[in-house]
Parts: sequence; C-alpha cells; structure tokens
Amino acid sequence: GARPRVLSGIQPTADSFHLGNYLGALRQWVAMQDTHDAFYCVVDLHAITVPQDPAVLRRRTRVAAAQLFAIGIDPERSTLFVQSHVREHAELAWILGCLTGFGEASRMTQFKDKSAKQGTSATSIGLFTYPVLQAADILLYQADQVPVGEDQRQHLELTRTLAQRFNHRFGETFVTPEAFIPEATAKITDLQEPTAKMSKSSSSPQGILDLLDEPGPLRKKVMRAVTDTGTEIVADEENKPGVTNLLRIHSALSETSIPDLERRYAGQGYGALKKDLAAAVLDTFTPIRERTEKLLADEAQLDRLLARGADRASAVARQTMDAVRDRVGF
Ligand code: ADP
Ligand code: NA
Repeated sequence: GARPRVLSGIQPTADSFHLGNYLGALRQWVAMQDTHDAFYCVVDLHAITVPQDPAVLRRRTRVAAAQLFAIGIDPERSTLFVQSHVREHAELAWILGCLTGFGEASRMTQFKDKSAKQGTSATSIGLFTYPVLQAADILLYQADQVPVGEDQRQHLELTRTLAQRFNHRFGETFVTPEAFIPEATAKITDLQEPTAKMSKSSSSPQGILDLLDEPGPLRKKVMRAVTDTGTEIVADEENKPGVTNLLRIHSALSETSIPDLERRYAGQGYGALKKDLAAAVLDTFTPIRERTEKLLADEAQLDRLLARGADRASAVARQTMDAVRDRVGF
C-alpha cells in the first residue's frame, strides 16, 4: 500500500543546526524517507512570531534548506520546501483560528512559558496562534503522521481536535494525524553545562556543536567539554552528566551501544574518549558542511531545488484548500 505521509518542520532561527537538532530530529528525517512519503518544511512563518531581521531570516532560511539537503534529504524522494513559498499555510491558519476557542488556545503550555519569558507587551498574537499555524502546516498536506517529542504533544492534540471539528462541521475534509514516535532519540546536553539541553540559545557557543563549525573549533569544543570528578568512563546521569552526554553522543554517531563503549574505555582517561569522539564528530559533520557550502555557492541550483519543492507542496496544498474554501462557503 501507499506509504504514510509524514510532515515535519524546523525553524530557520540559527546560523547552523546543532548536534542536538541533528541527533534529536534531523537524522530521523533522513531515515523516515525509507518508510514514509515525507514533507519537510523550513518554517519561516513560525520564525517571525518573534522579531527577525529580514536579511538574516532570508539567509538563515537558505542555509537551513541547504543543510537539510546536505544531511541527506533527497529531493527525488521527499518534498522539502520553505513554508512562506506556499501561501495556503496562512490562509488555512486563518480559517482554523476561527474554529479555535480562545480558552482552548490559552491552555497551550508552550505559549504560557514563552510569553512569560518575553513579557506581555513583547508577546505577539502570532506567538499565541502558533499552534494553529502548526495545525495548518500538518492538515494542508493530509499528513497521516507527525513526529513529536514530549513538548509538541499538546500541539498535535489541538491539530487532531481541529481536524475533527472541521470534518464534523463541514464534512469529511482532513486526515486526523497520529503521533509518530521515532525510535529513541538522543537528548543531547550542553558541553559546558551538561545538565542543560544543547540549544541555539545556550549561554556559551563553546557548549554547542554546530553542523557548520570548522574542524578546529569542533575539536576544541569536544576536548574542552566539561567532564565530572573521578576518572571512570561510565554512564551515570546523576553523578556524571558530562561523561554520560559524551558517551551518548559517541554512541549515536558510531552506532555502538553505551555498554560496549564503557568496556572499550575501561581503564582509560577522559582524554581518550574525547579524542575518539572528536574524530566521530568530524567524520559526520565535515561532509555535511562541505555539501552545504557547495549548495550555498550555487544560488541558482538551490533556487531550483526550492522551487521544485514549493511546486510539489503547492499542488497538494491547493487541492486541500479548494475543498476547504468550498466547504466554508467562499
Ligand atoms: P533549539 O533547542 O536549539 O532552540 P529547536 O527547539 O528549534 O532547537 O529544535 C528543533 C528540533 O531539534 C526539535 O525537534 C527538537 O526536539 C530537537 N532538538 C533541539 N535540541 C535538542 C537536543 N539538545 N537534544 C535532542 N534534540 C534536540
Ligand atoms: Na528551542
């Protein structure tokens, strides 16, 4: 039978994706191409829920797309596109917003957390309706499955509710998507602050391994990673979060189990683990960086790839919107 359709998006809000994005999400995007009809989206409409410099946003959107092709998203098999290139996202978000209760949207914990951090006067209505736009992203393509981490469960629930509500009120129109739980994704922590998640908003760039970092800085960051007291190389989340993180990264990149790594490094110091880990990081990152640079150097080629992705996405989105517009009474 046909492969289930999957939709996933990522924001173009950093100059490079980092190791956490790669191991926690993007590597699964590559793998899902074997099992799914994949739609992958660089979500620049979501990015502007907080202020963005236009030139920076435009550059980061292209760099994000180039990195996705570089890690192995195959334009022959998958539809990779930029959200703002397909106008139907904003149109469907408006219609779904009119079906969303104010109280219902107010219960979204991610909004509560983010707006509390920003303060009410700095918080846009776009940030408030972000989950409705996310619902539009998913429902436009009639996605069967959406990969979700814990933090996105509530948003997917809202998407399902909106699909069912629309179908009930206007007639069967949308597929109700299911959560797709990818095989255990590694939670990667900051190399300088190993109890905090590796994030583009980390306090120090030394704690983040960026896919586009040069070999020198990458090696340095790994060698200077914060480790723990003692000398033993064992995974122990509570007492040895630094070493545990390094083992987890090593395990994910070299596809070796953590117990196997513990046996390999028995009796050796942290330096040996870090040296091998730096080599593993370079093996993975270097070809990705080189392919990204090549794609960015050929603007016309990247434009063609993105235009093709947008064409394929638009064909599906338009078909959905034709039905939606008709049912709503437009
Ligand atoms: P950031 O945390 O840098 O702001 P995003 O929130 O944009 O990154 O996350 C994009 C994707 O990468 C999400 O699927 C998220 O779960 C994943 N991700 C981000 N950081 C990590 C991490 N440290 N470990 C595992 N996955 C991560
Ligand atoms: Na984040």
